[in-house]
Amino acid sequence: MNEIIRQLEAKREQAYLGGGQKRIFAQHNKGKLTARERLALLLDEGSFEEWDMFVEHRCTDFGMADETVPSDGVVTGYGMINGRLVFVFSQDFTVFGGSLSEAHAEKICKVMDQAMKVGAPIIGLNDSGGARIQEGVASLGGYAEIFQRNVMASGVIPQISLIMGPCAGGAVYSPALTDFIFMVKDSSYMFVTGPDVVKTVTHEEVSAQELGGALTHSTKSGVCDRVFENDVEALLMVRRFFNYLPLSNRESAPHRPSSCVALEEDFSLDTLIPSHPNKPYDMLELILKVLDDSDFYEIQPDYAKNIVIGFGRIDGQSVGIVANQPLVLAGCLDIKSAIKAARFVRFCDSFNIPVITFVDVPGFMPGTAQEYGGIIKHGAKLLFAYAECTVPKITVITRKAYGGAYDVMSSKHLRGDVNFAWPSAEIAVMGPKGAVEIIFREEKGDANQLAQREAQYKAKFANPFVASRRGYIDDVIMPHETRKRIARSLVMLKHKELENPWRKHDNIPL
Ligand code: HXC
Repeated sequence: MNEIIRQLEAKREQAYLGGGQKRIFAQHNKGKLTARERLALLLDEGSFEEWDMFVEHRCTDFGMADETVPSDGVVTGYGMINGRLVFVFSQDFTVFGGSLSEAHAEKICKVMDQAMKVGAPIIGLNDSGGARIQEGVASLGGYAEIFQRNVMASGVIPQISLIMGPCAGGAVYSPALTDFIFMVKDSSYMFVTGPDVVKTVTHEEVSAQELGGALTHSTKSGVCDRVFENDVEALLMVRRFFNYLPLSNRESAPHRPSSCVALEEDFSLDTLIPSHPNKPYDMLELILKVLDDSDFYEIQPDYAKNIVIGFGRIDGQSVGIVANQPLVLAGCLDIKSAIKAARFVRFCDSFNIPVITFVDVPGFMPGTAQEYGGIIKHGAKLLFAYAECTVPKITVITRKAYGGAYDVMSSKHLRGDVNFAWPSAEIAVMGPKGAVEIIFREEKGDANQLAQREAQYKAKFANPFVASRRGYIDDVIMPHETRKRIARSLVMLKHKELENPWRKHDNIPL
């Protein structure tokens, strides 16, 4: 018995050391924490329950029989974040470069299966050289087992990926199947094929960071949802992020009381909209003034900035915010912004998080680049997402709501529950100038006449009354009462029930 306990302790010690002190130093020298150090920061102190510490790989090729390390390059288990259950896996780069063996994959699958059974989120800390080269196809099979589970878990439990080192080849597809990807600046990268293959095939010379670093994926590809400066910031910010989410699709997000008064009025909002209709203003100002403690967790802040998405709370309740941003491209909808917002709305809908939409949209972005790029199909994604969404939907039109974009942005017709407009709202098929140039084309040479027509059109349509007369707008509210009116609407909608017709699954335009 004593011998068994001695062996147990020796194995534990070996597991804690991972690939050994030298490799731990190397990891630290790259500015990275080890797999276990990361979990210690992510989870509440002392809450981590580790599973499968003694799992070892079964490979005997290439001298691997003598090269075993307990845990086999991934630390798995469950713990708490602010007292709420979460399952985790954390790849250990010090053990075979965190590469994925069959046994390593089995460990990840085990915690994923358990997370599904009990209904709790899973967070993966990725730091891996990809498939364990010595194991070949057994490793590929392991990846596919994970992919299958990612897909089954989609919309059932929140899945969060943190990329904290390499993530290359087919390995990128597990994070890609999860709900959110966060990356660490400088030390992480993701690509399907690395710089060497790129050079051979396309003759492009590009560094790993340029090709798949955090900056690239947060500004160019939209793969990454948030970038953090280092491991510590990333882990602490994921803890904060976790607080906005429910444990599963069967639960609500936790209520977090704040010191803010729900029915508070903010008179500074009454001057937010500039007097000139084409002058931009910062929609973030409205978002911050409406949310509890001005606390906004923005998602993809540096990608498709013409739309703003993210999480916050109103009177303690988690909400998803979608808002056109007049500061960028006048808040137009284009391919990137439609995809960005559509995915976000679908996440909120999957996980019972009400969607608040702030609208100031002059329409869809014109041009060959957009049409050739498939704005028809991609714009339809956002339309589809809002139309199928059954969680509470509250919409506030602050200024422009023109054309198809009016319909798309959580309009009454797409089952918007509460649709408000500010007095500055202009709800029309298009802006007055464009409208009269089409209707009165024959008067094109007569600038005075056209100006008069424009003024007439503006007087008729550039206001919230035409839409509110038809009941498309539930009330015209003063900007200063926006928070109060949304908070009351959320209370009214607390027990909303709405179901879509049965189907195997929908067929969103992809
Ligand atoms: C086995 C691996 C490994 C791997 C790294 N190591 N990747 N062992 N399988 N895939 C080992 C190294 O041999 C080394 O062992 C240790 O991990 C650290 O690696 P270094 O190269 O010293 O580290 P670094 O210089 O930081 O470079 C990291 C790296 C590089 C860029 C990830 O290791 C690398 O290019 N690895 C190979 C990547 C790769 O081709 N993977 C397969 C991709 S295909 P020692 O003992 O020296 O410490 C794939 C398909 C997935 O993943 C398909 C899913 C559908």
